[in-house]
Amino acid sequence: MSQMDKIISLCKRRGFIFPSSEIYGGLNGSWDYGPLGVEFKNNIKSAWWKDMISGHDETTKQKQAPSLFNMVGVDASIIMNPSVWEASGHVGGFSDPMVDCKETKSRYRADQLIIFCIVLKSSNERVNEYYYASQGDPNSYSKNQLLEQHKKNLRNVIKNIDSYDLELRQEALLNDELRELVFAPGSKDPGSLTAPRNFNLMFETHVGALKNHSSQAYLRPETAQGIFVNFKNICDTSRVKLPFGIGQIGKSFRNEINPRNFIFRSREFEQMEIEFFCTPEESNSWYVFWRDRRYQWYKDLGIKKENLTLRDHSEKELAHYAQSCADIEYKFPFGISELEGIANRTDYDLRQHMDRSGKDLRYFDDQTKDEAKKRFLPYVIEPSAGADRAFLAFLCDAYTEDEVQGEARTVLKISPRLSPIKAAIFPLVKKDGMPEKAINIYQKIKKVFPAYYDSGGAIGRRYRRQDEIGTPFCITIDGESLAKETVTIRDRDSCKQQRIHQKEIIEFLENSISSSN
Ligand code: GAP
Repeated sequence: MSQMDKIISLCKRRGFIFPSSEIYGGLNGSWDYGPLGVEFKNNIKSAWWKDMISGHDETTKQKQAPSLFNMVGVDASIIMNPSVWEASGHVGGFSDPMVDCKETKSRYRADQLIIFCIVLKSSNERVNEYYYASQGDPNSYSKNQLLEQHKKNLRNVIKNIDSYDLELRQEALLNDELRELVFAPGSKDPGSLTAPRNFNLMFETHVGALKNHSSQAYLRPETAQGIFVNFKNICDTSRVKLPFGIGQIGKSFRNEINPRNFIFRSREFEQMEIEFFCTPEESNSWYVFWRDRRYQWYKDLGIKKENLTLRDHSEKELAHYAQSCADIEYKFPFGISELEGIANRTDYDLRQHMDRSGKDLRYFDDQTKDEAKKRFLPYVIEPSAGADRAFLAFLCDAYTEDEVQGEARTVLKISPRLSPIKAAIFPLVKKDGMPEKAINIYQKIKKVFPAYYDSGGAIGRRYRRQDEIGTPFCITIDGESLAKETVTIRDRDSCKQQRIHQKEIIEFLENSISSSN
C-alpha cells in the first residue's frame, strides 16, 4: 500500500474524510469531512484567522515588517453580481486547455499531458513514428511514471533495445497530423486525442425564477474578489489606514477538468486569502514580508522544514499583472506541489473594478500635504492559501509509523493546536470508582477543550486508538488517582508518562497546547 493510500484509508476508517454522497457512488472531486475531519479543518482555519486577522496586534511592530499595519476580516457572498467576474477576467480567461480521449472517454488537462517519443541512446534516432501521451506534472515526473502508462504498447517496442531515452515532443498535441500518431494514456490505438479546447472553470448558475442570459451568475472561483469589491466599504467604515490587509475564509468552486490526489485538487474547496493594500513604493518590501511570514506559519505549526519549499516564480511564469510571485510548496507523497501562492498583484484588480463599475476606488491619504499624492490606487499583496491543501499537508507530515515496546503503531504527530481532540480520559479499569472519577474529570476538561472519554478495552489499545487520530494527551485514572487525587498524563509522541495533581490538568493542557508548534 502506498503512503497516500494508507493516509486515505486512515481518513475513511477514523472519520476524517469520506467520499461525497458515497451511498450513490460518490461524485468525482467532492469530499465530505467527518467528525474528526471537521474539527481538524476548523482548527486550521481558526489558527489562520487568529494568527493573521483577529489576533493581529496593530500597536506592536512585527519582526521583518516594514511598519505597523492593520488587519480586518470580511465574509462576502459566494454568488455575486456577474460583472465582478467580467472585471476580474474570469469570464474571459479563467480556463484550462482540455483534451478528450475518444477511445477511453477520459478527459485531461492538456498542460498535464506529457508527450514523448522513444529515441536510441546511441544515435538519438527515433525507434518508431509514434508519440506517447502520459499524465504527469511537467515540473516533476519520472521516466518510469511516463512509461508505465503505455506498458502494453511499448512492450514490443523497447524489448530489443539496450538503451533508450524519452524525448519530449509537446508540439505533437497541437499539430493535427502529428496528433494522429499519439497514443493516449491506456489507449490501444493512436489518434484518439482531440485538439486542446479551452474550458471555463467557473460553475454557472441562475439567480431567480427565470433561466436566461440575464439571470446567469457564477459560484465564486476564488474568495479574493469578494475582498476587492468591499475595499471601498471597508475604507469608509473601518477607519483603517494604509498599509492594511483584509482576510477572508470561504468556499470556492472550480469545475476542474481533472480533480485528483484526494483533497489536493477538488471542485469545491475552501480558501484562506488576504489582500494586503499598500503604497506602490512599499509593495516589494511587503511582498517579501508576507512571503516569508506565510512560509514560517506552516513551520510554526509543525510542518518539517525538509518538506517545505519557497519557490520564487521566474519572469516567464508571472501573470501579466503580477510584479512578483512565489509558491509555498509541500512534498506530498505524489510529488512536490503548491500549497499557497503569494503575489504582488500591483493595482490590477482595483483598477479593473474601478473601470468596470465606474466607482472611484482610489484610497484617500489625508496624512499627505502633497495634493498629487492624496488619491491613488494601492498595490496589493495577496497570500492565497487553500484550507483543504493545508489539511492534506499537515496530515501527510504528521503521519508516522513507529514501534512502541516492540509493537507497531500508526501515529499522527499533529501540532496539539490543530489536533481534533486535545485529551482522552480513561479509567484504568471499569471498577473501584475509577469510571465515576474519570467522567468527573472528563466533564471538567470538556468545558475547555475537545476531549474524549473511553473506558473500552485494554489500556494499550485505547492509547493506540488516540495515537492514530493525533490526540496529544491521554489522561488515566488509576488506583493512586483515587487515593491521592492524581492522574497520569501520557505524551503521544514520546509515550512518556508523568503524574500530576488533578487540579493541575487544565493548566497543564493550556500551557502545552499554547506553547506547541
Ligand atoms: N486568488 C488567487 C487564487 O485563487 P490560486 O493559485 O488559483 O490563486 C490559491 O489558488 C490556493 O487555493 C492554492 O494555492 C490552493 O491551496 C487552493 N486551491 C486552488 N484550487 C484548488 C482546488 N481545485 N482544490 C483545492 N485547493 C485549491
